[in-house]
Amino acid sequence: MGKQSVYDDLEPKIHQRIAEAVADAVPVLDIACGDGRLTGLIASGFGCKTYGVDISVSHLAEAWEKAEARGISHLVLLAAGDAQKLCFLDESFGSLIMLYSLHEIQRLPQALEEARRVLRPGGKFIVVDPIKGGKAETLWNESYYGLAEIESMLTRAGFSELTSDFLYDDIVFVSAKKVPVY
Ligand SMILES: C[S@@+](CC[C@H](N)C(=O)[O-])C[C@H]1O[C@@H](n2cnc3c(N)ncnc32)[C@H](O)[C@@H]1O
Repeated sequence: MGKQSVYDDLEPKIHQRIAEAVADAVPVLDIACGDGRLTGLIASGFGCKTYGVDISVSHLAEAWEKAEARGISHLVLLAAGDAQKLCFLDESFGSLIMLYSLHEIQRLPQALEEARRVLRPGGKFIVVDPIKGGKAETLWNESYYGLAEIESMLTRAGFSELTSDFLYDDIVFVSAKKVPVY
């Protein structure tokens, strides 16, 4: 088995885990949704409108083709936009997902503030990304954050009740909440 296929094989497990985590907190926004494979899975699984935003129009075109091919284009709402300045109103979503995109965002603190803005009080934020120093880093020649860095950035952006665990050697699953202020 090639190195990369380990990560490919993990995909259904990771998607399933994320879908379960956000099941009680709709609507869902998939931030940096890429070709929308997770967005579509959640939309079809929950049978409710699910949102995806990505900066790449070509990725969104793929996402739209996939949604049409699956007959779920009425459930998938895609927007071209920057995670650093989201095109959604305050407190629009019950949960947010960033899958394999944390390390791609240039001004991450700004994107995390935006995430907090569009999330409803009590809403969930799920982050899944490879971490610094793992196999994925050498495989894709990218640089990732350490778990402590991720947790501290989320805390600084105002998220709390953080829980983290590993889905694979170097793939971390972090769940955070936007705690309501009374
Ligand atoms: C590795 S892909 C992950 C895509 C998808 N989440 C997945 O798991 O298949 C990273 C995505 O982040 C998007 N991206 C990078 N910077 C972005 C930004 N500032 N705002 C929105 N999307 C961004 C890229 O266009 C790309 O689709």
